[in-house]
Amino acid sequence: MNNIATINPQHPDIQQLINAGKLLAQGELVAFPTETVYGLGANALDSRAVAKIFEAKGRPADNPLIVHLATADEITNVANDIPNLAYQLIEKFWPGPLTLVLPKNDSIPDIVTANSNTVAVRQPAHPVALGLIAAAGVPVAAPSANKSGKPSPTTAQHVAQDLGSKVSLILDGGPTQVGLESTVLDLTSKQPTLLRAGAISKEELEEICGPILTTHSTQTEIQTKTAVKSPGMKYRHYAPQAKVHLLTTINASTVLSFSGKRAVLQLTNDPEIKAVSDLYFSFENLENMAQQLFAVFRQCDQQDVDHILVEMVPNSGLGRAILDRVKRAGE
Ligand code: TXA
Ligand code: MG
Repeated sequence: MNNIATINPQHPDIQQLINAGKLLAQGELVAFPTETVYGLGANALDSRAVAKIFEAKGRPADNPLIVHLATADEITNVANDIPNLAYQLIEKFWPGPLTLVLPKNDSIPDIVTANSNTVAVRQPAHPVALGLIAAAGVPVAAPSANKSGKPSPTTAQHVAQDLGSKVSLILDGGPTQVGLESTVLDLTSKQPTLLRAGAISKEELEEICGPILTTHSTQTEIQTKTAVKSPGMKYRHYAPQAKVHLLTTINASTVLSFSGKRAVLQLTNDPEIKAVSDLYFSFENLENMAQQLFAVFRQCDQQDVDHILVEMVPNSGLGRAILDRVKRAGE
């Protein structure tokens, strides 16, 4: 595809960034790598440009977008009444995979926040993302660059598969490092509330915030609640075509009890299970599993897998984020 441009992820070419930034400033869509997943960017101050994001992804209009900044001090341009706690978190975790929900500044059009009076904001830790946003000279609204409902893209090829020519330019900086989307923390509620688990763990946040609330994370739980705090959480997410099963333990007979083409994902390498699986993935650690998870889901779809069996991981640290995505994929 001719809209993909390779870019050096560590030392991106300045001219490439300037050209891509110009496209954003002109109201075009540019997909770019962040440390978490690929984002589909538009000028956050331009409602017409942002409308193209919803159109390209097939994203429901009531699901707000994250605004990305090149530098932390620009936060006062997009958010109001920023509490001290936000600055403490920013000091510790930015640039990085932590999104903060804060009272919205009027400069941000309603389409970005889906008419909410809050705005989600983060400074990504990726030289291409930071350079691109700086070159654009505006805050950049960017959801994950997948088609709505699909697993988030962790490579430029995933973006091209989902969005193809609907995007003016895809900057290809190679596979993303974290592999799961940012942690989303709401600072507008009485007590800080974790809206989405991610690479910055609840435990790490609590060292600074004290106890934080967590939202119920499964589809069924969300549907039974009247007020949805993070609108995106009510939609089907990260979903491959195969049926995803989260299992406490997996042995050969468990695998054989599923009919059709079977894939297994686990942290230990077990030759007996491998022998009875059509596709087998064992990961060295949680970081590795998070980094590979969405690419593995996509690979399973390409190979017409019927059942994806995932063995339970610890429900803490990065494990919490992995379990969240696996559970949602299974709904
Ligand atoms: O790592 C990431 O966060 C990636 C990269 C590209 O930065 N972006 C990303 O965006 O995952 P998206 O749109 O796929 O997910 C954003 C999540 C959604 O669940 C959305 O509902 C929630 O953040 N969100 C956005 N604005 C919000 C707001 N004002 N209040 C509550 N939740 C919000
Ligand atoms: Mg997304």
